Amino acid sequence: MAFQRPAYLASPTLPVVHLPRMGLARWLLLLLVCFVSCSHSDLAPKYRFLKQATDAPPVSYYDYIVVGGGTAGCPLAATLSQKFQVLLLERGDSPYGNKNITNLASFADTLADNSPTSASQRFVSEDGVINARARVLGGGSCLNAGFYTRASPDYVRKAGWDGQLVNQSYRWVEQLVAFQPPMLQWQSAVRDGLLEAGVTPYNGFTYDHIYGTKVGGTIFDRNGERHTAADLLEYADPQRLTVLLHATTARILWRTQEGSGRPKARGVLYRDARGRFRSAYLREGGELIVSAGAMGSPQLLMLSGVGPRAALEKLGIRVVVEQPMVGQGMSDNPMNAIFVPSPSPVEISLIQVVGITRLGSYIEAASGQLFASTSGGGGSPPPKNFGMFSPQTGQLSTVPPKQRTPEAINRAVRAMNSLDQGAFRGGFILEKIYGPLSTGHLELRSRNPDENPSVTFNYFKEPLDLRRCVEGIKVIEKVIDSKAFAPFRYPYISTEALLNMTVNFPVNLRPKHDNDSISLAQYCKDTVMTIWHYHGGCQVGRVVDKDYRVLGVDALRVIDGSTFNYSPGTNPQATVMMLGRYMGVKILNEGLQAKKKD
Ligand SMILES: Cc1cc2nc3c(=O)[nH]c(=O)nc-3n(C[C@H](O)[C@H](O)[C@H](O)COP(=O)(O)OP(=O)(O)OC[C@H]3O[C@@H](n4cnc5c(N)ncnc54)[C@H](O)[C@@H]3O)c2cc1C
Ligand SMILES: *[C@@H]1O[C@H](CO)[C@@H](O)[C@H](O)[C@H]1NC(C)=O
Ligand SMILES: *[C@@H]1O[C@H](CO)[C@@H](O)[C@H](O)[C@H]1NC(C)=O
Ligand SMILES: *[C@@H]1O[C@H](CO)[C@@H](O)[C@H](O)[C@H]1NC(C)=O
Ligand SMILES: *[C@@H]1O[C@H](CO)[C@@H](O)[C@H](O)[C@H]1NC(C)=O
Repeated sequence: MAFQRPAYLASPTLPVVHLPRMGLARWLLLLLVCFVSCSHSDLAPKYRFLKQATDAPPVSYYDYIVVGGGTAGCPLAATLSQKFQVLLLERGDSPYGNKNITNLASFADTLADNSPTSASQRFVSEDGVINARARVLGGGSCLNAGFYTRASPDYVRKAGWDGQLVNQSYRWVEQLVAFQPPMLQWQSAVRDGLLEAGVTPYNGFTYDHIYGTKVGGTIFDRNGERHTAADLLEYADPQRLTVLLHATTARILWRTQEGSGRPKARGVLYRDARGRFRSAYLREGGELIVSAGAMGSPQLLMLSGVGPRAALEKLGIRVVVEQPMVGQGMSDNPMNAIFVPSPSPVEISLIQVVGITRLGSYIEAASGQLFASTSGGGGSPPPKNFGMFSPQTGQLSTVPPKQRTPEAINRAVRAMNSLDQGAFRGGFILEKIYGPLSTGHLELRSRNPDENPSVTFNYFKEPLDLRRCVEGIKVIEKVIDSKAFAPFRYPYISTEALLNMTVNFPVNLRPKHDNDSISLAQYCKDTVMTIWHYHGGCQVGRVVDKDYRVLGVDALRVIDGSTFNYSPGTNPQATVMMLGRYMGVKILNEGLQAKKKD
């Protein structure tokens, strides 16, 4: 095998698209090896209240039913079980024993796997950006880059939350799943580069959202082991909680209340792994809580007859209550990055440092390397993947828009299995903008709960979003040109050449523009990716009230990232977990809906 790195780096105009291809070749190899040698042994469940839906009775009754065992659903169900009989329904599997999830270095493996049993389900927005949603107990916290950071007190105030309970709830989460990252050489260089670039002051290691540069928390512990929202089930009362896996909720069951005629949730219909339907009903005074995420929650409401009338009727869904705002206000914070190959070794890192600028852009970074494991190299290190930027984003622009069916995308991903050999190392310095202000919408494609709805985010529709992106790219350029970062870049590759290189990455399915000189605004539009912080669809004040109760119906709430107007903090997961706990405590304290049952 030829070690080609010096050659292509000396000539930056060479097609860099080869890099992600090589990554995929590696994964496909692993997959093949795994088919041959991995026996999928059933591990003993981590908690005895984890059960397969196939083992559930055909009909059951609970005080609270939570749909979606994700980042918000787990802390919520654990909290409610302190007083009530709770059922948590999760469509995916358990994360325990799945190395792709628990290992930091396997970040991209789950995202690369789009099989029906994968913990991630790929979707492509109408904007042409490849994205992913969780399908596993623990939700997005099983797929994510692990960065853990709180929302600002200002965000908390504007959300109308009780600041003290918010802080208590963050601490409750942090006790089990938040850690201080190791901060090795590459992340440290980014940190120092940010300070040189003027993103000051340095705020050290903190979960707090403050202007300047800081080291944030992570859900990966010192051994690189991931701790997910599912770990918060440790707090549950095992006598009162039942968690069903492979339980896909198909729709909400309703009753019409005498007198008012107002619809009231009375339970759910869910499907087990063998395709058999079961139902779970609420006991007197109980409530159904939907925590199925920003894709899943508006989808489930619509499937259950709560949504825009015309769209529902078109699919033959009986309208229970007309709610035109369900699926509106969908946003995804655009992510743009500059790829910087490094002449010296770098650690494998996901997000650890963040620069919080006053211009509304947040700078973060990830590093990694790939080693070609040659056929003869029995002693070569195990293949490492490149972290954030991997085959799920790569090469898909080869699929013409009209043919972007899931099958075609899968074929394209497989086609990336080229025979490129070589080694690659370096990092991506990326930015995410605050907000965003641009919004879009979500619509059902069918009545099948497994099928992704269609979603449009309208990246950069609002000019301020674009301006924030441009300002962020300028900061990244300064970081790359900083003294601190010098050891991790090739001095003869200018930042402009790096931009040229990155713009050629097939990171999305959008058209590229061949301008004489790259304007940063065009760069932002052409290289937009997702940082997977999409939110909205069931926003407070539009679909739910301040207590997260769905407007127009009874005994139904939505509690998860679909309720946000803006993405909280620099990254949302801390606040999503906090919200699950926070609302759980609020509901326990109400103590009225359901009577305590022992
Ligand atoms: C690849 C990736 C990287 C990210 N990186 C970071 C990061 O570094 N830091 C950070 O703070 N945030 C990060 N995020 C974002 C963060 O993880 C999400 O915002 C958060 O997990 C969303 O939580 P949620 O509870 O709203 O939804 P989810 O966690 O997605 O939970 C929804 C759950 O509902 C289940 N579900 C859906 N529909 C049904 C149904 N019909 N029946 C039963 N169950 C159903 C799903 O399987 C899922 O488990 C990242 C996300 C991804 C995907
Ligand atoms: C881990 O990821 C690989 C590569 O995407 C995939 O082939 C494999 O099935 C995954 N393993 C599990 C247990 O999900
Ligand atoms: C919550 O904690 C933050 C620091 O994380 C602090 O700034 C804020 O004042 C606290 N709020 C309350 C109400 O105690
Ligand atoms: C970047 O690309 C533009 C347009 O293709 C070209 O004019 C410019 O010379 C390139 N810059 C570098 C440094 O390669
Ligand atoms: C780049 O080119 C496209 C057409 O290819 C054009 O629409 C766009 O305005 C150009 N952008 C800049 C900043 O010149």
